[in-house]
Amino acid sequence: MVRVFVTRALPIDPAALAPPGVTVSVSPHDRPLAADEIVAMAAEAEGIVSMLSDPFDAALLARLPRLRALSNYAVGVNNIDRAAAAARGIVVCNTPDVLTEATADLAWLLVLAVTRRFREAERVLRTGGYDGWSPTLLLGAGLAGRTIGLLGFGRIGRSVARRAAASGMRVLSTTRHPVDVDPALASPVDRETLFAASDVLSLHAPLTPETHHVVDAAALARMKRNAVLVNTSRGPLVDEAALVEALEARRIAGAGLDVFEHEPAVHPGLLGRDDVVLLPHVGSATEEARRAMAELALRGCFDALAGHEPPNRVQPDTVPALASGMRGREQ
Ligand code: GLV
Ligand code: GLV
Repeated sequence: MVRVFVTRALPIDPAALAPPGVTVSVSPHDRPLAADEIVAMAAEAEGIVSMLSDPFDAALLARLPRLRALSNYAVGVNNIDRAAAAARGIVVCNTPDVLTEATADLAWLLVLAVTRRFREAERVLRTGGYDGWSPTLLLGAGLAGRTIGLLGFGRIGRSVARRAAASGMRVLSTTRHPVDVDPALASPVDRETLFAASDVLSLHAPLTPETHHVVDAAALARMKRNAVLVNTSRGPLVDEAALVEALEARRIAGAGLDVFEHEPAVHPGLLGRDDVVLLPHVGSATEEARRAMAELALRGCFDALAGHEPPNRVQPDTVPALASGMRGREQ
């Protein structure tokens, strides 16, 4: 019998998808597992379906000698040391495509929520502060004619570009592969230009040593005073302390964040601010996306264990592995 272990309950029953000869067990705890717990529960497993909050570093992989397939229930794979996995012959999979539209929708929700002062407006109404329509009540910023900068132009970045174009925005983007930029969707620019020219800056890059703190104090200083930062990718792309300082000094106008540098902790300087909208990492959290992610993660694992090339295999060399010191407490 081939064994697969799932580190956390999924929105579908994984056993229902298991091919003959494969048994699937799921952690009984609906919480992130400690490394020791993973080793205890997955000691016999050839396959693991992991969560983005499970740090599969070289040390943990070394304690799982039977492991042959590691399938991450996420598109981002920064929680996995892919070089160490490759060295051990472990196939790594992720869940691309199926969460693209859900995540782009959520990025767009944050763009609108911050620019239209959603949080403040809702609070005013719910706390009895609404006396009727007013020509000057809660004026926000319009999007048409403004510029959005997309840092990263993969599937999710491109999907956000389509929403931005529908809102009449000019779209700029950086990308690791300039040839991939579709000039009908976005104009490719370098990072400096992106920071300086954007009214909305939205992050869609994976977390790597190269993108860690890509939005730091220097980047924030380059941004426009009316600019809004949106992050639905990975928290450590932003230096959260520098962001709090920039907001306090009114160097930028606001932020919409679905991910945080030290999840689940959120910098206390963000929590009380009306110019910031904060969500608990729910970018892909639709019923449809999460079910499809579960199916894709499981199928990749089953394929790899059956000796087939999984369509959702992550090649070890596409993105450099994150140095362990930079992983921080990112979940
Ligand atoms: C979610 O954050 C993902 O990477 O899928
Ligand atoms: C506002 O409610 C309007 O009708 O312009």
